[in-house]
Amino acid sequence: MACSETDYGYLRELVMRQSSNLIDPSRNTLFDARLAPMVRQAGASNLKDLVSLLKDDKQPQLHRAVAEAMMINETSFFRDKPSFEILRETILPQLIARRVEERRLRIWSAASSTGQEAYSLAMLICEHFPELAQWDVKIIGTDLSRPVIESAKAARYRRMEVNRGLPARMLVKYFVRDGEEWEVILQVRRMCEFQHANLCAPLPKLPLFDLVLLRNVLLYFGCSDRSRVFSEVHRQMEPEGYLMLGNAEQAEDSTTLFEVEFASGSYVYRPANGS
Ligand SMILES: C[S@@+](CC[C@H](N)C(=O)[O-])C[C@H]1O[C@@H](n2cnc3c(N)ncnc32)[C@H](O)[C@@H]1O
Repeated sequence: MACSETDYGYLRELVMRQSSNLIDPSRNTLFDARLAPMVRQAGASNLKDLVSLLKDDKQPQLHRAVAEAMMINETSFFRDKPSFEILRETILPQLIARRVEERRLRIWSAASSTGQEAYSLAMLICEHFPELAQWDVKIIGTDLSRPVIESAKAARYRRMEVNRGLPARMLVKYFVRDGEEWEVILQVRRMCEFQHANLCAPLPKLPLFDLVLLRNVLLYFGCSDRSRVFSEVHRQMEPEGYLMLGNAEQAEDSTTLFEVEFASGSYVYRPANGS
């Protein structure tokens, strides 16, 4: 039996409650496609049945799994190359100059998905800033979805994934092939950690960050949740840190918290109270 508009409305609300992601009613078929495996796993005969199960189910796991299955986890190595150029040419050199005494950098890949963003940054650092091998550098990736966090921790990628954005030279240098997959080498993996965090809920204990990449996630939130995320991110940043958004994303309604540092392709901000 097909799902009614009320059932889809229930699923939209569930995803909103769990993740703050807005799903437009015009995209109802996305629920059918993404939740088909869960229908089978839960022993339901169709999506309508799954909705009934969800309504009766008081355990949070099934609700959480539905929200996680609806996330858009699209990512790739060195996504938006010009952003990585800005990081290499300007932001990292400035941070390194500022942290030369402490020899410590903390970087946050907020909404890290399967880890390509964090590992790209780690490879960029190994490649262009070899002196940081002696520093305490940590790139922390967080995401709402536990399956993508597990996949980021595994650091293993299929041919299709390493073929997207990763120069062949870097594939050879920073990965080892294991059957049909490529595994990120230990030197790079050691720089990265991954953990679960919902950007729209109280955050777990995290350090203060010198650099935050908050890319390609804001578009899934409504206005008030975007403001909330900016306040949380602001609280997690060193006063002189940098915040980089995705291509064409802006901190429109949070300009009291941040000031624009660069605006070429991607916006890069500094906390407004920074020097
Ligand atoms: C399109 S991917 C972007 C990945 C990466 N930042 C990039 O630009 O390639 C968006 C990610 O945001 C995550 N996400 C969505 N809502 C979230 C939330 N409330 N808290 C944390 N992560 C969230 C999704 O699970 C997904 O992995």
